[in-house]
Amino acid sequence: MSKNNRTAMFAGSFDPITNGHLDIIERASKIFDELQIGILINPNKKTVFNLEERKNLIAKCTEHLDNVKIIYFEGLLVDYCKANDINTLVRGVRTTQDVDYELQMAHMNKNLNEDIETVLLPTNVKFSFISSSLIKEVMKFGANIENLVPKVVLDELKKKEW
Ligand code: PNS
Repeated sequence: MSKNNRTAMFAGSFDPITNGHLDIIERASKIFDELQIGILINPNKKTVFNLEERKNLIAKCTEHLDNVKIIYFEGLLVDYCKANDINTLVRGVRTTQDVDYELQMAHMNKNLNEDIETVLLPTNVKFSFISSSLIKEVMKFGANIENLVPKVVLDELKKKEW
């Protein structure tokens, strides 16, 4: 593996980070020397947590991992990676539908930057139905989601207006 390959990027919106994300982060951090967690800056997307809140939540959930770094990025992910000498993207896949979508993204990213490789990690089956969107959907109805998100995230979700 070349030096550049030892750092990988796990990017997303993380609004908020879930146990599914955390599972991928913990496993990827064991595979790579450094794992960067890239939070997408998208001013056009309305989010429940602002960028700083999302970063703080990720930081708290990953404080037991010493090779994880959290960054923000804007625009194309492959451009950020190129500028920062990263050529591996990590993505979690929950379902075969995810595989279809992830393959499309992987091919597009490869087309945009041929040095980029995408590594797909199957999500732990117990988290295979979780998404940040579904968490927010059921949260509106006061559902119990304590097994789906880290405790710090749950506490912050409860403070939001639903
Ligand atoms: O939280 P998500 O929806 O899984 O994150 C998707 C994300 C942010 C990784 C993807 O949409 C992305 O990389 N966006 C930045 C813009 C970009 O590079 N688009 C091309 C993707 S093929």
